Order: sequence, then structure tokens, then C-alpha cells
Amino acid sequence: ERLLVRTGPLAGKHVIVTSGPTHEPIDPVRYIANRSSGKQGHAIAKAAAEAGARVTLISGPVMLPDPSGVTTVHVESAREMLQAVEKALPADIGIFAAAVADWRVANAGEQKIKKKDGALPNLSLTENPDILATISHRTENRPPLMVGFAAETEHVIEHARQKLARKGCDLIVANDVSSAGGVMGGDSNTVHLVTASGVETWPTLAKSDVAARLVERLGTLMGDAKP
Ligand code: CTP
Ligand code: CA
Repeated sequence: ERLLVRTGPLAGKHVIVTSGPTHEPIDPVRYIANRSSGKQGHAIAKAAAEAGARVTLISGPVMLPDPSGVTTVHVESAREMLQAVEKALPADIGIFAAAVADWRVANAGEQKIKKKDGALPNLSLTENPDILATISHRTENRPPLMVGFAAETEHVIEHARQKLARKGCDLIVANDVSSAGGVMGGDSNTVHLVTASGVETWPTLAKSDVAARLVERLGTLMGDAKP
């Protein structure tokens, strides 16, 4: 039996991180997805583990290896991601970096949908559960520190402020994902930390450095929360 002794600013803390896109099936061979690579979320999971936390990473389908020193749970859809988060609770910190698909196909086919003389399939969409809002708004089993992300293509700060309020989390990491920035799939990120007390804009950093700085900040916030 191996005993892992963890030291660091997050030692003794359990951190849940969601990362990557979700895939929402249309039929057994097709799905709806988005351009998230999972790089930022996975980097955060790794940084939290390096800061001494026990980390559960709940990952949608990504092309990345499982970070070492982290328990990784693989899921496909938003509903599976929510279930995996529920199962991983309780936690001290929740960092919800996944780009969860907002909609899924309500009438997904059990068999592959076939072309039929040019007739188009009638796909109807339904909204997925909002994982961050669901967990943040509850009173029982809510991680004391809840962090969300906001992927925006315009009015970044304004939208992030609205998300902070609507989702009921403690901190929003907002980033501009308009194609010019190359954030999606890229290795660097320019983020704004939005809390009830204000906005802090960080310089453009490698995603690994954004992760390290964020984890350091969360360590401070956890410390401040102590009586
Ligand atoms: N999120 C989530 N579950 C969803 C949708 C979003 O947990 N079904 C989380 C994301 O992981 C992120 C935050 O909510 O931390 C914001 O996601 P975003 O897509 O920017 O916000 P939405 O509320 O979906 O708004 P919109 O896509 O319309 O901008
Ligand atoms: Ca969304």
C-alpha cells in the first residue's frame, strides 16, 4: 500500500474540476459538440494537485492524457458530467471549466439516422442542466468555494458579471473566445477574474501559468474564509 503525503497550500482539500467539451448524441454515430480542448481545465487540475489537493477531474472527451496525481473520471454528455460531479461531492472547491453543451437532442435516434430521398431529420433540442448553477445554488453539500468560467465573444466583463450573479458562484474566470484570440485549442489565455468585489485582468499567460496563479489565489481565498 502506497501512502501519498500531500503538502502545499491546498493540502487536505478536495477539489473537483470539470474540463473539456461534452458530446450530445444525435444517434449512435453522430453528436453535437464545441471547440473546447480541455487544456485550461486539465492544467488547473494538475496545478491543484501540485498545490497538495486531492483532485477529481471530470473530463468530457478530449485529446489529452489524464494528468498524473489526479483521479480522472471520463464522461461524454452534460447529464453524465452532472452525475459524476454529484458522485464526487463533497468538496472544498469546485472549478467548473468545462464547456458544457447547452443543448442536447431530445429525440436522439437509437439507430443511425438514414438519409431518405432528401428529407431532413427532425431534430428537436432541449436544454441541458446547468451543472455550475445547480451545485452553486444548493445549500447542502455546496463546496464553500465555487468557481465558474465564462467563454464570451463580446462584452466579456458585462456578461461575466451577469453569470456570477445568475450562477451563484463566488468567482468567474472570464475569457474572450472570439476566434481572433485563438484561446480555444491554443496554449495561452487572457483572463479576467470577476468577483462581487471587482474585476482583475491578468496579462496573457500560458494556460499552465493561468492555472498556477488561479490555484494560488484559491489557496488565499480558502485561507481568508477560515474563522
Ligand atoms: N456551465 C455548466 N453547465 C452548463 C452550462 C455551463 O456547468 N449546462 C458552466 C460552465 O462550465 C462555466 C459556466 O457555466 O463554468 C459558464 O458557461 P457559459 O457557457 O459561458 O455560460 P452559459 O450560462 O451556458 O451561457 P451562454 O453559453 O449562453 O453564454
Ligand atoms: Ca454555454
